[in-house]
Amino acid sequence: MTQEALDIVIREAKPSDAESLLQHLKTTATETGFMTMGKEGPRITANEEKKQLARLQASCNNVLLVAVHQEEVIGSASVHADSSPKIEHIGEVGIVIAKEYWGLGLGTLMLEEILDWATNSGIIKRLELTVQARNKKARHLYEKMGFQLEATMQRGVKDEGQYHDVCLMSKLL
Ligand SMILES: CC(C)(COP(=O)(O)OP(=O)(O)OC[C@H]1O[C@@H](n2cnc3c(N)ncnc32)[C@H](O)[C@@H]1OP(=O)(O)O)[C@@H](O)C(=O)NCCC(=O)NCCS
Repeated sequence: MTQEALDIVIREAKPSDAESLLQHLKTTATETGFMTMGKEGPRITANEEKKQLARLQASCNNVLLVAVHQEEVIGSASVHADSSPKIEHIGEVGIVIAKEYWGLGLGTLMLEEILDWATNSGIIKRLELTVQARNKKARHLYEKMGFQLEATMQRGVKDEGQYHDVCLMSKLL
């Protein structure tokens, strides 16, 4: 099955996605040990998320894309950047797809859209991300999209009492 056959739409998030997005983030936080967020879930109300999404829509160097299936958010990919002029060109990338939808090419498609958006933004010149060294699938995906390893941060994260190395990767645009 492909993402086309499943009728999944990838588009920019809008304020009315707030509740579904929060549910997606809450569910995916514990599907793997790879997310920084854990069982505490997103500590934000739907109303705050709604305002945050409106701010993102108005920003030139931030974006949040969602993958939607049957009116539910099942994937999200983002670029977050600061408004300070000295670092406004640095975008931090994040992506998570609900486990049920892995392996359909959605991660690849969403990252391609993120790269297109960042290139066309005219502001973002460096994309960066952190990924756990043990997260082989995500590292493969990022390398495929042209991200390079810059550093390995030892004990960069603690999951269920175990420390894991975290890779810092970047791609210049
Ligand atoms: C990482 C993630 C976004 C990938 O999404 P996806 O939709 O399954 O990705 P795709 O189907 O586009 O591609 C997966 C790629 O990984 C490859 N892959 C699958 N398992 C792998 C493994 N164990 N090791 C290496 N590569 C692997 C696939 O072959 C495919 O590569 P290809 O296109 O070159 O054939 C998704 O698994 C996810 O959300 N994981 C949990 C959250 C997460 O880890 N996010 C990143 C945190 S930094």
